[in-house]
Amino acid sequence: MATEKHKELSGFIKEIHNRLRRESQLYGSEEAWNRHLSRTRDLQNYADSMKELATAHWTQSHNSLHKNPSTHCRIHWIKKQCYKYYFEKGKDKYDEREQFISFKIEGQGSSILPTTSTFSPPGENDCLSPRIRILDVGSCYNPLGDDGNFDVTPIDLAPYSNHVLKCDFLDVSVGKTTETKDNQEVISLGRNNYDVCVFSLLLEYLPSPDQRFHCCKKAYDILKPGGLLIIITPDSKHVGANAKIMKSWRFVLAHLGFMRITYEKLTHIHCISFRKCFDKKVAARWAEMQNFDKDKSLFNSLNKIFIPQDFQEIKEIKSFCVEGEKGTFYSESEKSIGFGELPEFFDGIN
Ligand SMILES: C[S@@+](CC[C@H](N)C(=O)[O-])C[C@H]1O[C@@H](n2cnc3c(N)ncnc32)[C@H](O)[C@@H]1O
Repeated sequence: MATEKHKELSGFIKEIHNRLRRESQLYGSEEAWNRHLSRTRDLQNYADSMKELATAHWTQSHNSLHKNPSTHCRIHWIKKQCYKYYFEKGKDKYDEREQFISFKIEGQGSSILPTTSTFSPPGENDCLSPRIRILDVGSCYNPLGDDGNFDVTPIDLAPYSNHVLKCDFLDVSVGKTTETKDNQEVISLGRNNYDVCVFSLLLEYLPSPDQRFHCCKKAYDILKPGGLLIIITPDSKHVGANAKIMKSWRFVLAHLGFMRITYEKLTHIHCISFRKCFDKKVAARWAEMQNFDKDKSLFNSLNKIFIPQDFQEIKEIKSFCVEGEKGTFYSESEKSIGFGELPEFFDGIN
């Protein structure tokens, strides 16, 4: 059951998302984003609320309802994918698959892949095995930071603590190396520099399909070839309810050069991992083989990432205490999709 405190925190978070979407409709996404960034008190309150919900309310509810964390917990799922891919030969398997598909496209020729894997399982050759380099975008309170096998760079618009670097991923440049200022702020991110890029509950925060696409494109740039983009997105409906939208993500990302390698629907979340292919043609091949009805808007745009809220009307329902706002609006879909589910989402209630 959601406590009053729990409802208050998730209500505030929903309200911030909702205002951003509403202002994006009114003023355009760029102006809405600038207004959003100027409300520093709200951003800090958001970070505090998110941390408290995720670590106190959400974890507690989940622990009491589920014995096996892998069936519900996004952080556990992300860690498991990283281990399977880098320490349990998952990457080798997909390297081979990519090479196989590449031969089919190009004919037998020179290898597109490196010959050796750089990772060995933890415990074996500890001093030789590098840690998995992870960029956690929208990290908030660095939930992946407690694993010694990960070298995490946690970034956020509004860091919860000084363990997280301040950075707007939409705006940050991609350069030769990752550069920081005073160990507090990111100036630029290194190209082809990370083994994993994590978007956990990030994409639905962004009000426009173009901004979400821009983030995916940047993830492609900062990942090493063969690296993973892991996306967690909330949805309390059954697995098929938003299947078309999930497929459109796969379609758009395939054109960017990502091959989907894992998909699971857990309670309240979709969990997806994509591999940055060495050869973009290998990733695009899946999309080319699909037979979509081109009239459907979802598959017409190769540079947009839609979420269900993009297709919903916004209406006024209630007011929370957010900076510079009196009345406020709510999307119809907030009740069943995404962060509209937050009280239930964080409660683990179906
Ligand atoms: C819902 S929270 C998710 C926190 C954490 N990833 C988790 O799974 O618990 C979304 C976070 O993304 C951050 N965020 C949104 N847009 C961002 C951007 N363009 N650059 C960096 N962080 C961003 C927000 O500040 C917020 O802390």
